[in-house]
Amino acid sequence: MRKYGIFAAILLASVVGFAAQAQTQDKAQTKANPIPSIVQQDGRYALMVDGAPYLMLGMQTNNSSDWPATLSQVWPAAQALHVNTVETPIYWEQFEPKPGQFDYSQIDTVLAQARAHHLHLVLLWFGTWKNGSQHYMPEWMKLEPEKYSHVVNKRGEPVDSPSPFAQASLDADIHAFTAFMKHLKSADPQHTVLMVQVENETGTWGTLRDYSPASEKLFAAPVPAEVLKAMNVSPGSRTASWQDVFGTEAEVNFHAWAIARYVGQIAAAGKAVYPLPLYVNAALRDPIKPGAPGSYESGGPTDNVLNIWKAEAPAIDVLAPDIYNNDATAYLKILDLYHRPDNALFVPETSSSASTARFFFSALGRQTIGYSPFGLDYTRAPAPQSGSQDSFLQPTAQNYILIGPMMRDIARLNFEGKLQAVAEETSQPTQTLHFGEWDAVVTYGSGRGAAPRQGTDPSGRALVAQLKDNQFLVAGFNAHVDFRPAGTEQQRKSQQIVNGTGQTPSAQIDGKWIHRQFLKVEEGTYENGAFKFKRILNGDQTDYGLNFSSAPLVLRVSVATY
Ligand code: DGJ
Repeated sequence: MRKYGIFAAILLASVVGFAAQAQTQDKAQTKANPIPSIVQQDGRYALMVDGAPYLMLGMQTNNSSDWPATLSQVWPAAQALHVNTVETPIYWEQFEPKPGQFDYSQIDTVLAQARAHHLHLVLLWFGTWKNGSQHYMPEWMKLEPEKYSHVVNKRGEPVDSPSPFAQASLDADIHAFTAFMKHLKSADPQHTVLMVQVENETGTWGTLRDYSPASEKLFAAPVPAEVLKAMNVSPGSRTASWQDVFGTEAEVNFHAWAIARYVGQIAAAGKAVYPLPLYVNAALRDPIKPGAPGSYESGGPTDNVLNIWKAEAPAIDVLAPDIYNNDATAYLKILDLYHRPDNALFVPETSSSASTARFFFSALGRQTIGYSPFGLDYTRAPAPQSGSQDSFLQPTAQNYILIGPMMRDIARLNFEGKLQAVAEETSQPTQTLHFGEWDAVVTYGSGRGAAPRQGTDPSGRALVAQLKDNQFLVAGFNAHVDFRPAGTEQQRKSQQIVNGTGQTPSAQIDGKWIHRQFLKVEEGTYENGAFKFKRILNGDQTDYGLNFSSAPLVLRVSVATY
């Protein structure tokens, strides 16, 4: 007995010693290589990677590309696009082929291959929901629809969407997602993975909510207090049902509540084992003229129910829009709807069309933490012949070739509130950015001193960041940028640009004309994250302002008045 006691004491001491040592090592590693996180300061957000603001220049693979047989068609596209981050799914059906048996091979393969290509990853958990359906549930779940139940429509028929009230599905998803996050924690100490998407475009098409008996009971019950609070409804409605409180929006709000609660529990369980930033993505409703409930996917994080999602799923860091609307007004409205004091902007999916690429700058102007056109690997379109122009990838590649080398500076300047960026809108040939004593005036279209336009489609985009009171970093494509002394709000109205008429941009302030002069316009490149001087631009290159063509150009501009 005594012998065992001494043995136990030695064992305990060494276990405690090991644990303490492991903890110290953990702490040292955390300091040297902190886990990615989303931080907020003065209402602005940054994704911190290796301790500093980071901008994800992303692409998302096609849905079925994350297999050993097809990953080889992902990396060359990522390289041609100059992305720093690839978003790709983890499939529940592959991950848990039998109940409780996890297959980590796909995760390990994509981690190893991404590292070999010096890329970061965002992994998308295709779990209970994928585009409103349960198509990625493992076979053993699909074969038991009574247990892992579907949403039931008004006629009592099951539809192609998982029920947010199926406790067995929720338990299984929590179990699987936790195993996935646990594995990620041990398999990815170098933090190749920056964020994880929980589910994919949750919600239901074709019916507004679940009409199963369990659901009906909850729909008739009083609206939970946190939902009333989140939706700014007076506490007087505390005993009222969903229908009484929300009327025509009742069913959508109820379904959002049920799904957010479900997803919130999965996210919280995963985060408890490995606290990576988590987000959900939304199939959107029309941002300009939202149709009635039923005209869009019901229950996902659409703009009308963001408050419900925030209240019910606090472990989700970001609610993110999938933007496939190419109309400028709609696109910008969507960015504004998801760029909120309580929500960092992140565009995890967007159209890969040439005319959309300019909106990357609009997202930058709203401090996006990342941007990612969808479906840009070579599983659909073959890789171009070597040496030929890859027009399929061109517009997004242009953006990333320009921003990639300066990515850390851009992310930091944006987090510090010093950067503004815009994209061309046909209705607005001129856009003015205000920086204290200076206005940066961006113009598009043809004319003397204006940017040459590529074809007839709007493609202009520009960013301006204030480095010092009188010094700016300027970059962009197919745009013309100049600086003008700013006055007060009232004086600004009387300002005119008189560029191209023998005068420099000027402002009439207190009855006196003040003119801009360039002290120095430096063209440079970014090397190892720092601006490297190449040459001074002057004469024809600056006498009519600063012109940005379709070639990447970065300028450091010092201005003064006379
Ligand atoms: C949005 C989804 O989130 C993606 O997975 C994909 O299905 C695209 N739609 C369309 O291809």
